[in-house]
Amino acid sequence: MADFGNPEIVDFETDILIIGGGMAACGAAFEAKQWAGDDVKITLVDKAAMDRSGAVAQGLSAINTYIGDNTPEDYVRMVHADLMGITRDDLVYDIGRHVDGTVHLFEEWGLPIWKTKETEGVPLSEGGKPVRSGKWQIMINGESYKPIVAEAAKKALGMDNIFERVFIVKLLLDDNDPNTIAGAVGFSVRENKIYVFKAKTVLCVAGGAVNVFRPRSTGEGMGRVWYPVWNAGSTYAMCSQVGAEMTMMENRFVPTRFKDGYGPVGAWFLLFKSKATNGFGEDYMTKNADMLKDFAPYDTAAVVPTCLRNHAMLKEMKEGRGPIYMDTPTAMTSLAETMTPKEIKHLEAEAWEDFLDMCIGQAGVWAGMNIRPELNKSELMPTEPYLLGSHSGCCGIWVSGPDDIGAPDDWSWGYNRMTTVKGLFTAGDGVGASGHKFSSGSHTEGRIAGKNMVRYVQDHKDFKPALKGDIKAIAEEIYKPVRNYMEHKDKTTDEDINPYYIQPRNFQMRLQKIMDEYVAGVATYYQTNGTLLEEGQKYLDMLREDSDNLRAKDLHELLRAWENFHRLWTAELHLRHIQFREETRYPGFYYRADYPDLDEANWHCFVNSTFDPDTKEWTMHKREWTAMVDHGH
Ligand code: ADX
Repeated sequence: MADFGNPEIVDFETDILIIGGGMAACGAAFEAKQWAGDDVKITLVDKAAMDRSGAVAQGLSAINTYIGDNTPEDYVRMVHADLMGITRDDLVYDIGRHVDGTVHLFEEWGLPIWKTKETEGVPLSEGGKPVRSGKWQIMINGESYKPIVAEAAKKALGMDNIFERVFIVKLLLDDNDPNTIAGAVGFSVRENKIYVFKAKTVLCVAGGAVNVFRPRSTGEGMGRVWYPVWNAGSTYAMCSQVGAEMTMMENRFVPTRFKDGYGPVGAWFLLFKSKATNGFGEDYMTKNADMLKDFAPYDTAAVVPTCLRNHAMLKEMKEGRGPIYMDTPTAMTSLAETMTPKEIKHLEAEAWEDFLDMCIGQAGVWAGMNIRPELNKSELMPTEPYLLGSHSGCCGIWVSGPDDIGAPDDWSWGYNRMTTVKGLFTAGDGVGASGHKFSSGSHTEGRIAGKNMVRYVQDHKDFKPALKGDIKAIAEEIYKPVRNYMEHKDKTTDEDINPYYIQPRNFQMRLQKIMDEYVAGVATYYQTNGTLLEEGQKYLDMLREDSDNLRAKDLHELLRAWENFHRLWTAELHLRHIQFREETRYPGFYYRADYPDLDEANWHCFVNSTFDPDTKEWTMHKREWTAMVDHGH
């Protein structure tokens, strides 16, 4: 009988293994099923429950990528400019040409999408016009967005093919074919079981990375961050560990958010046409427009890039002109000028609903701080950095793109969305150099990957995956934190204070402190330099040594232990890439104080890295950037 110290090992064989349960995973499950015959087996593993897992778990009030009357080429230009010129036009275009079809599916599955008065009740696919908050964004009633999308994926696969509450620790390569994926291994967070999956092809879509940096909310507020706390960098860590080439891991996202509650600002800026000011009421974007010219040509983009908006704000904060305010009363007063009292009440309700749909904690902050948006301004704050590839950031994995649009050979060498490891695919936050996919784009990218994985399976019918490595030893490694606990717990009177092991929680705080102080967190106003990075690497090395001593007193802590190991790996990727790129490409997200300028001549290129699983060595290199549409500069 399995018990805590003695887990049962469960073997499972499948054709397509999907790791993750978020938007990309749901898209892949749904689409793969459309193309797969009954002879292709599809299995999905989620560390949580699909209804409320991933970044869309809490809900959303807008879909940020809907092309509508725009063109996919326009979308490519917008993404390129917002991410300071270094994105893959092929991947972005591929999302752009397919994303609206995905949004139409969401509507068919029951997601309420706001329509203009003239087309109320008409589905988008039949000519209904969405209420646009911005050029790319459309408004939804999205509290149940994720359960709706998950339902379609669950129906497609059937619950017999879905493992919930199973955390994947590592991917496994094939024993016979070099650089080929063969499966993955993980453990149940509810039962004493280790799962060993064999698969012909694997989709690793476990989200981005949160809590790598010390969050601004500490103490009682800890756990309240912008992106979901459970995004532990598993996608980046696991793929990099088996040798997948990574790209743009220096990129990060520092969202400007409502202070302390991390409430979204998009609807305020775009739908309510609100302005942000410094502590003296000055519009810091107009005031600092000249300063942004240092980062030309991107300062002239149709919308000032997200990092440059932060750059202007940070100048005000650093020079003592805080706090930064979102001037909600002025915005609501001007909107109300042409409204009836009933419409004004409705507007106020929308202001609250924006938070209630997607960030309930911020509504709690407003209520608790006596803030009425029609009367009081709210403070804004740039948050701690996050690593992701689907929102206004673009770190991730280097993948093959579509083969029908004339992309360069080293952008399109295999199956669409396959990594440099054969049979290993990714999507959503996993795919690098193509941000601004958001929820709809991530689902779309999952669909693209899912379809191509079916093709991969059909083309490799005779492939029999054989797992590399001693599974018993790997199972032991997974349960090592449990062993550490069992062996040493009685050596002190308080099991939490023990020189023989380190709690996942303390480990995480140490990681966050290192990243905060050495790798451009909030402690240094997002600044770092070569020397700081060298020091930081030293401390990360020591932390990795200490990871052998992580403890797990229960299955939940075992999850936390492995999540933090994935965070540590992701942190190192981030550091190595920042170290390699000797320029400041994303002012407002981070600054290399020793290379404070944008250097288009030398650094308008991708920075890629590879970890060799055999030699354990890292290599860093540049990859050429090419334009596939006219970017106007
Ligand atoms: S989210 O948390 O809801 O995703 P947010 O509310 O900031 O974030 O919405 C993000 C969307 O609004 C993105 O499409 C982003 O590019 C856009 N956005 C946010 N602020 C601005 C701004 N000041 N100007 C233009 N677009 C913005």
